[in-house]
Amino acid sequence: MSMVEDRVAVPESRSDMESLKRAWHLAGPLKGRVARGVLFRFLQSMMLGLSFGVMVWVVTGLAEGRALTAAWIWQSAGLMALSLLGQILFGYLSVRASWLSSYEVAGHLRLRILEKLRHLPLGFHQTRHRGDTVTVLTSDMQMLESFFSDGLPRISQALGLPVAIFLVLLTRDWVVALATATSVLVALPVFFGTSRQLSKLGIQRQDMQAEAGARMIEFVQGMGVIRAFNQVAQGQESFRKAIDDFRDISIRMVAQLTLPMALFGMIVMLGAPLVIWVVGGRLNTMETGTAITALLLLFSMYAPLLSLLGVMEAVRMADASLIRMDRILSAPDLPEVADAAPSGFEVSFDRVGFGYRPGEVVLHDISFTVPERSMTAIVGPSGSGKSTILNLIPRFWDAGSGRITIGGADVAWIGEAGLSNLVTMVFQDVYLFSGTIRDNIAVGKAGATEAEIEAAARAAQAHDFISRLPRGYDTQVGEGGDALSGGERQRISIARAILKDAPIVLMDEATAAIDPTNERAIQTALARLVEGRTLIVVAHKLSTIQSADQILVLDEGRIVEQGVHQALLEERGLYAQLWSHRAKAAEWTLDG
Ligand SMILES: Nc1ncnc2c1ncn2[C@@H]1O[C@H](COP(=O)(O)OP(=O)(O)OP(=O)(O)O)[C@@H](O)[C@H]1O
Ligand SMILES: [Mg+2]
Repeated sequence: MSMVEDRVAVPESRSDMESLKRAWHLAGPLKGRVARGVLFRFLQSMMLGLSFGVMVWVVTGLAEGRALTAAWIWQSAGLMALSLLGQILFGYLSVRASWLSSYEVAGHLRLRILEKLRHLPLGFHQTRHRGDTVTVLTSDMQMLESFFSDGLPRISQALGLPVAIFLVLLTRDWVVALATATSVLVALPVFFGTSRQLSKLGIQRQDMQAEAGARMIEFVQGMGVIRAFNQVAQGQESFRKAIDDFRDISIRMVAQLTLPMALFGMIVMLGAPLVIWVVGGRLNTMETGTAITALLLLFSMYAPLLSLLGVMEAVRMADASLIRMDRILSAPDLPEVADAAPSGFEVSFDRVGFGYRPGEVVLHDISFTVPERSMTAIVGPSGSGKSTILNLIPRFWDAGSGRITIGGADVAWIGEAGLSNLVTMVFQDVYLFSGTIRDNIAVGKAGATEAEIEAAARAAQAHDFISRLPRGYDTQVGEGGDALSGGERQRISIARAILKDAPIVLMDEATAAIDPTNERAIQTALARLVEGRTLIVVAHKLSTIQSADQILVLDEGRIVEQGVHQALLEERGLYAQLWSHRAKAAEWTLDG
């Protein structure tokens, strides 16, 4: 299925039929199995109808004065046994098909969402709570799973018996049969109306659940900061508010459900007096057996329909989950136009403008060129847009205006895989996955050998400190693992970049102060990284800045000065100012 097909409009609410249709579409190649699960459940319910039929047959036979014979008893017993066997068999088949298909559909959807997430601009993940995406992948998928395994079959089960009874009645007296159906038909609009109303609340509820989840994650992750600043109470407050909101909306949902539920039940049950009245009026024209049948079966027909109300909430929840999932699936991918092959590795910005949000301007008219195999340092005050410039090159976001080219080819035309091979990024905050140090370096290259990993670590000046750890390269890091210092993390991330061996390296130096030994190690690592590569580095360390072939000075999203160190110092502008601040700060740290 192509991604384009998924660009459905994501509604605020929708009817049961529409949500069923969407769910059906999403079942994709598993439609057949889903349909079998539903059909078998329906047949199971019809089989229950068969045993009802046998009972009615016996009772009406007796009422009509038929003599009890051995043959008759055997026949009824045989039919009963058949009904029982049928129920067991269809029940088994249905459960099997439904559960299998539900797991597969949900698994398949999870993979599709993950695949989709890879193609979305990074901006998408920032504008949405990360917890929200996680909720879609976890609890929303569970909702869908239980909809396919349980909700959908329950709907068909609730319909099986009434349909069977209606058919039996239809063969005996169509007027009475229609009378039994009247109240159901009248009650249907109440059912669908309520369901539609609940649809909106359902999605709000699910959103709030995700919000509560996000707050919970935030609370746990930020525990260090929260404790350090004695903000436990406040952190808990926002967490508690999210939970309260979630509880309130759940209560509102139930409240909104009770009245229409009672109304629906009442209208359906009004069928009983109606049928009794119709039967009463036709007693002289109809057989006694039919009259008894109708009266006996009436409640068996209505009761399952009332159970549909219970399923309604589950359906609404599943639908809300579908809508939340569709928000992700329908978000526009990064546009990819064609395959352009860069000739060389020169990086160039041509009048680039950009803002993270519509109307906001973070970069104004940025133009510069980084020649192949040279190093450019970007400096400037915090918030001036340095990291933003780096983010645009691998297309974490797309430039708002202007062009960014690599080797003359527009980055938007190079294609995701091509771009990923060309560019590697060393981030300001190094992210370590949970796993061993070896795994974390190996991220740089799929299938890297032990020797390659170690060579990269050596070049990145990381091998020594790794070897000193008790478990060496097998040390667990990341979530739940050992903590490494900021400088050590940067070196691991440089090792990754060296292993990846891309011709263009973007590096966002950590702002945090690093001890002199660590800093020297990082400088050596960087020098190795630069060899033969095009490097753009957001520089905070004096030594990095000094060794750059070109320095861009950024202020409030504009390039205000540009040149080499000595020339810039002589301009006595922002650069000279920044430099003297940094130099003083560095002296203080060195002199201790
Ligand atoms: N993901 C984002 N969404 C919205 N605004 C952002 C985002 N990232 C940065 N900004 C804003 O864009 C501006 C430039 O940020 P940027 O991170 O590029 O600054 P910087 O020069 O790298 O700063 P620092 O030296 O502190 O790292 C800032 O005003 C910042 O608040
Ligand atoms: Mg930055």
